[in-house]
Amino acid sequence: MSASKIVLLTGASSGIGAELAKILARQGMRLILTARRADRLEALAVECRSLGAEVIVIPADLGSTDEASRLVDESVKAFGGLDVLINNAGYGLSAKFSEADPADLVRQLDVNLVTPILLARHALRHLIESRGTIINVGSSISCVAIPAFGVYGTTKAGLAYWNDALRREIRGTGVNVCLVEPGPVETEFLDVIEAQSTRKLERHEARPPAFINARADDTARRIARLIDRPRRRISMLRRVVWPLRLVAGLFRLFPSLGDLALSSRQPVAVDSKGSG
Ligand SMILES: NC(=O)c1ccc[n+]([C@@H]2O[C@H](COP(=O)([O-])OP(=O)(O)OC[C@H]3O[C@@H](n4cnc5c(N)ncnc54)[C@H](OP(=O)(O)O)[C@@H]3O)[C@@H](O)[C@H]2O)c1
Repeated sequence: MSASKIVLLTGASSGIGAELAKILARQGMRLILTARRADRLEALAVECRSLGAEVIVIPADLGSTDEASRLVDESVKAFGGLDVLINNAGYGLSAKFSEADPADLVRQLDVNLVTPILLARHALRHLIESRGTIINVGSSISCVAIPAFGVYGTTKAGLAYWNDALRREIRGTGVNVCLVEPGPVETEFLDVIEAQSTRKLERHEARPPAFINARADDTARRIARLIDRPRRRISMLRRVVWPLRLVAGLFRLFPSLGDLALSSRQPVAVDSKGSG
């Protein structure tokens, strides 16, 4: 049982992260909750304290990569160490590459990939001391390259590669490194995508049918279990992610099939924002 472990959780203000915070609170963990929306974090902290956890809230925008060292330093200062880092925060930039604002591309890479890696870098010595755990929330999107989600998919594919490389590099230190690969989950994730997008979405970008969605609380429960029972990689829902892996294998063997199924039907117009 992992009572009283010190857990730094990013993306705690909604969706999977908020559910995870409540589960860990019930287990009596000491939590550091971070995201941008301080009001949501404070409300969640009150709920988590009522469930038995010690909680601190550190609002931060992970688009600013300097926040990684501050978050780790403040966590260690508050609780005297760190047992678990959960890199959960993330969002999906849905933008045609030819029209994307370069600043949006950098921000996507920073929030979903660069800052999580830096968080782990700053946390590593503390995690080695505690023989702790790093959990990275990737995505099944990294199986198949989808137009308009190219940079989002890159962050998740990059996270998966780095996750496995790190696990192999630090084997023997006692630190567990786990990758979570969700398919669609019922959270605010798609609302954020739709709110951001100003263009007509293509058919492969449409909201998936509800029956293939995982629930945020179920997803969070499986992630929480990794702290006591670490695994290299978990995928959920399995019935969604495993067939996707098969399709990915097929597209790798026969790339023309993937091109046929997924190529954009919309005209390409290169926007001047990209020409320096
Ligand atoms: N839902 C899905 O279908 C799905 C599928 C595959 C993978 N995932 C992954 O699951 C993870 C959790 O997402 P979710 O589904 O729970 O979506 P969500 O409800 O939209 O939650 C995303 C979390 O990330 C935080 N976040 C976003 N941008 C941030 C920034 N710049 N700085 C700090 N925090 C930021 C948000 O907090 P603030 O807005 O308050 O900052 C929020 O707490 C993400 O990494 C996502 O890529 C989700």
